Order: sequence, then C-alpha cells, then structure tokens
Amino acid sequence: MTIDIVILAAGQGTRMHSALPKVLHCLAGEPLLQRVVNTASSVPDSKIIIVTGRASEEVKASISGEQIHYAQQDEQLGTAHAVQAAVSVSGPSDITLVLYGDVPLISKETVLAVIDTVDNDTMALLTVTLEDPEGYGRILRDKQGDVCGIIEQKDAPPEALKIQEVNTGVLALKTSHLREWLPQIDNKNTQGEYYLTDLVAIAKRSGIHVVTKMPRFPQEVAGVNTRIQLSKLERFYQQQQAEKLMMSGVTLADPNRIDIRGSLSSGNDNFIDINVVFEGVVKLGNNVSIGPNCLITDSMIGDSVQVKANSVIEKSEIYSNAVIGPFARLRPGTVVCKNAKIGNFVEVKNTQVGIGSKISHLSYVGDAELGADVNVGAGTITCNYDGANKHKTIMADNSFIGSNSSLVAPLKIGKNATIGAGSIIIKDVPDDQLTLARAPQKNVPYWVRPTKKK
Ligand code: UD1
Ligand code: CA
Repeated sequence: MTIDIVILAAGQGTRMHSALPKVLHCLAGEPLLQRVVNTASSVPDSKIIIVTGRASEEVKASISGEQIHYAQQDEQLGTAHAVQAAVSVSGPSDITLVLYGDVPLISKETVLAVIDTVDNDTMALLTVTLEDPEGYGRILRDKQGDVCGIIEQKDAPPEALKIQEVNTGVLALKTSHLREWLPQIDNKNTQGEYYLTDLVAIAKRSGIHVVTKMPRFPQEVAGVNTRIQLSKLERFYQQQQAEKLMMSGVTLADPNRIDIRGSLSSGNDNFIDINVVFEGVVKLGNNVSIGPNCLITDSMIGDSVQVKANSVIEKSEIYSNAVIGPFARLRPGTVVCKNAKIGNFVEVKNTQVGIGSKISHLSYVGDAELGADVNVGAGTITCNYDGANKHKTIMADNSFIGSNSSLVAPLKIGKNATIGAGSIIIKDVPDDQLTLARAPQKNVPYWVRPTKKK
C-alpha cells in the first residue's frame, strides 16, 4: 500500500510579520515544516508532496529528507485548490493523507491511526473537541451520530457555531476517491475559496463513511499563525521533553527552565540546573551534573562529569570525572579525557586534553595534544595561527607550563619538562629540563622613584 502525504505550506503567514516564510520559523530549533516532514517520513511506503506558494525557493532550500516532491500553488484559492496542485504532480498511490506545514506537533501515532482508518468505503478525519472552537470548521453529525459535513466558521449559522467538535484539517482517503471528488468542489461560499472540507459531504453522498479519530493531545493539531501561538507550542513541547527526562532518571532544578533543541539521551542520576540549553545530538552518561546557564551542542558527556555554571560546549567529548567550568568554552574538536579539568575563562579548540591534565584559568589552547597530567598555568596561550595556517602544539606527559607563557606552534614540549612563567617558547623543549625564555630579571640599586613636581 503506497501513501501520498500532502503537506500544505503555501500560506504567507502574514500574522508572523516576518521576512521568513512562516513554515520556516523554528520550534525547538527546527523549522515547523521540517518537523512535519520528519513525522511524515516515518510512515512506511510514503512519498511527500509539499505545496508551496511564493516562497517556494526558500522553502526548498531549507527542508531536507527523502522522497520529497514539491507542487507550486501560485494563487491561494483554498485548501482544495492546494491539494489539487499536489495531486496533479503526484503519480499513482493508494491513499492520500493531508497534513499542514504550520501544524508542527502532529505525532506519528496519530498519523498512522488516521491512515489505518481508511479503506475502500471509509475516509478518515481527525477532529478535536475544543472549549473554544472559534475560527475552526465545525463537524456536522446526523441523527445516527455519523459525520455528514463540515461547516466553516464564516459560513455557519448561529446553531452550528455552538458545536465544539472541530475540523483539524487532517484527513486521509483513497487517492482514487480524492481524484474523483476534487473536481466536484466549487468556491460558492462566503470566502470564495475551494474548501477541502467539502470532501466530507461528497463522501457522504457517495456512500463512503467518514470516521473520525482524535489526537492524544490537542496541541498535536494546533496551528501556528502568530509568534504567541508559536511560543505556546514551544513551551508545551519543552515541557513534554522535560517530563520524559525526569521519568528517565534525571533531576531538573526547574522543568520550565530547560530547552532541548534536538535530541538528548541521558543515563541515570543526572542533575541539570536551570537555564541549560541542549542543541543537536547530546549524550549524557550517569551521575552527570550540569550547572546553571550552560549551552551544550552536539557533544558527549561521560559518567560523573561536572559541568559548572555558564559553560559553552560544542562538538566535544568529555570523559568520566572531568570537571568543566565555570565559564569554560569548549569549541569543536575538544576531547577532555577522564579526570581532566578545564577551569574558568579557558577556551579550548580542536585539542585533546589527556588524563588528569589541567588547564585551570584564563587560557587559550587550540590545535594541541596534551598527554597525561599536564599542568597548563594561568594565562597560557597556544599561538596556533600564523595568519595563514594553523599549527599543532604537543605537550607531553607530566609537562608543566608556567603561567602567562606563549607557545608558538608548531611545537613539542617534552615529557616532564618545566617551562618558567612568562616564557615565549618558539623551539621544541626537551624532556625533563627547565626551560626559561624570558628577559632575565635586572635589579637596579639606588634607583629613585620620580616624585610629583611642586
Ligand atoms: C481550515 C479548514 C477548517 C479547519 C482549520 C484548521 C478548510 C476550508 N477549512 O481552515 O475546517 O478547522 O483549517 O486549522 O480547509 N493553504 C494553502 N493553500 C491555500 C489555502 C490554504 O496552502 O490555497 C494552507 C495554509 O497555508 C494553511 C492551511 O492550508 O497552512 C490551512 O489554510 P487556512 O486558510 O488557514 O484554513 P482555515 O481557514 O484555518
Ligand atoms: Ca481560509
């Protein structure tokens, strides 16, 4: 059985007041439309047809996935007109499902339940009962309780406006039915639009049952028209993720103050303080503690690691018992081995910090390889860039770099070497020796400090 999933995304999104097409605004770091595409992609044997309007090039450039086709709808003459645009570019299929690019949280389970409902004499409609049904199409049912039509808010008489069961817009039916019925839809209504919802009355006339399904949460079918609605859905989504995390054994200082924009996998007994943001794919081991105000992107954090307040970690790997921060910045390519320590105001990039090594204060270490038990003193800088190329600095096991040293790469500091504070090291340093590369100290006797003129 093959399924066409049509995603309507031609709307301008005027109420967003934005240069960016509405469906490219992000929820949890991902464009609204991309979320719908991801959910659609999880349906087996499906192909996706996205209906775009004026912003089609921008939308195409931003959305990724397999089996995605595009249909162009230059003028927006209604939801049935939009689906017609999709049908005219799609090949044969058994079932067609309609989703919306601005309804981002529809779940795979709901989508599958809607599809499963369809057969030769049944079409499926996703409805929801709302406290306040204002603005939505209302579901009309006959005396037997069967769905017999949908009436839009703007076309509805006062009695119909009282109906609280509303159309979510999501529906699925045999593609052969859709192809037969779409041409029968006209635009004789208050809005002068071709309403996709007219399919329901046509189905009824044709002896096809309309069976309704409901989503697990009403937020699954909530659309985004304004930035306020977007923020409400974002908070709902983040709250759900926070609850999942807590259920999996993570303590959150405040479930309202964590944002996961991507996927976070976590072991047991982790503690996450307030205002921590996770982006991309982040993995946490067990007994990890993350302090307040941290940003962690595409990284692996091992067992019993402590990340202290205000640290920023990107594309890095941190192994067990390491301590990071407060105020540390780990840039891409940083590997911190077990028991190592990166302290405050330390920036590390493309560097391996060996077992038990320490860079405790105010340093920049880039393109370097530190062995085990290296101590990098405060204010040490690797001069890794000559203006054209990057060069590597090696600090072998147990080397000790005195404070405020400049290590001009390419450079190798030998095992057990000691570098005196304030040195500018431009040549390789041998094992086991003390190296000083600074102006010798001069003491001037009998020197008199100037005094202020009267
Ligand atoms: C539609 C339904 C209504 C339902 C509501 C749920 C119809 C006639 N009405 O109403 O029953 O309760 O959704 O939110 O279907 N779009 C296009 N091309 C068009 C028209 C619309 O791509 O020509 C897209 C829009 O960008 C939007 C979606 O389809 O994402 C829904 O269109 P909209 O005009 O907002 O429908 P509603 O009037 O809200
Ligand atoms: Ca409309």
